[in-house]
Amino acid sequence: MFSRIVRPTVVATRSFSTSKQNNFKVAVCGASGGIGQPLSLLLKINPLVSQLSLYDLVHTPGVAADLSHIETAAKVKGFNGPECLKDALKNADVIIIPAGVPRKPGMTRDDLFNTNAGIVKALAECAAEVAPCALIGIITNPVNSAVPIACEVLKKAGKLDPKRVFGISTLDIVRANTFIAEAKGLNPKDVNVPVIGGHSGVTIIPLISRATPSVSFPADQLQALTTRIQEAGTEVVKAKAGAGSATLSMAYAGARFANSLLRGLKGEPNVIEPAYVQSDVTEASYFSTPLVLGKNGLEKNLGLGKLSDFEQDLLKKALPELKKNIEAGVKFANQ
Ligand SMILES: NC(=O)c1ccc[n+]([C@@H]2O[C@H](COP(=O)([O-])OP(=O)(O)OC[C@H]3O[C@@H](n4cnc5c(N)ncnc54)[C@H](O)[C@@H]3O)[C@@H](O)[C@H]2O)c1
Repeated sequence: MFSRIVRPTVVATRSFSTSKQNNFKVAVCGASGGIGQPLSLLLKINPLVSQLSLYDLVHTPGVAADLSHIETAAKVKGFNGPECLKDALKNADVIIIPAGVPRKPGMTRDDLFNTNAGIVKALAECAAEVAPCALIGIITNPVNSAVPIACEVLKKAGKLDPKRVFGISTLDIVRANTFIAEAKGLNPKDVNVPVIGGHSGVTIIPLISRATPSVSFPADQLQALTTRIQEAGTEVVKAKAGAGSATLSMAYAGARFANSLLRGLKGEPNVIEPAYVQSDVTEASYFSTPLVLGKNGLEKNLGLGKLSDFEQDLLKKALPELKKNIEAGVKFANQ
């Protein structure tokens, strides 16, 4: 199944056509941030993007002016401050949200809840009003709670289509591919490791038994690799020593996921990408599994598939934490 995943090309070349199918409006909320700026750069050079709408509380005029000089077709516009939010999101085909505070050393993703929950809520409220058909990709942490918040807000507004709201867990897959390739001396571009569950600590479940090409490890190395994938974000937070969390690799992952959404919208067949969505695959009401993406967002959830005993155990450990994170998001949105 996973051998069918086509690794998207994130960085485009200059030679592209601008057919109707390539005319998508993409909005980035939090566009001036550590993730927002390189993500916006990668979207500016994506031939499927015709309009790039950059929203933040600060600095978007500068970021937009800078990006607008790049010799690609996408028209870039900056929107600064809450009074511009509606114009920024209006009729967007895709909205990517990296707005919010990142972790500092010693913090968990849940420590960001108090600040970031309100930001995601406000952005989802506006999307419900002016871009109800948009595909929404959420990067803001804690992703496990942020996606339920956005879905509850859209539900209250009568605009929820759960097939259109995604938590972007792509960085976990990108990291798993890289670490497994390193361990086996493979080219990372040839490796696909599905990662399911959620996007924090024990909720991140790498399915190394289903990697392509097939790989195997002694038990201690399998455990060490799994823990490294689960804690890779913390590795970056520690190395940045107070200057934030992963930004460049997340921008790459966000651009990869946005590109997959756009390829699906365009009608390309067999676009498969794991993401965290409303789900009935497990007892957790939101869960990340490989998805087929299409013209309406999520076309088909490919489910859990076969797990090894080791991975079954990881799933058992993940579910209580995931359910707690989801409950916190739902409660916040409805209070
Ligand atoms: N999903 C993932 O895998 C993943 C990986 C890394 C980081 N993250 C998360 O992404 C988020 C952003 O990280 P960063 O490093 O870019 O942070 P950052 O502080 O560098 O940038 C955040 C940006 O959001 C803007 N912002 C704040 N409130 C806003 C609002 N109400 N509306 C619009 N913009 C607003 C800020 O002005 C800033 O420009 C954090 O929550 C971080 O934890 C997620």
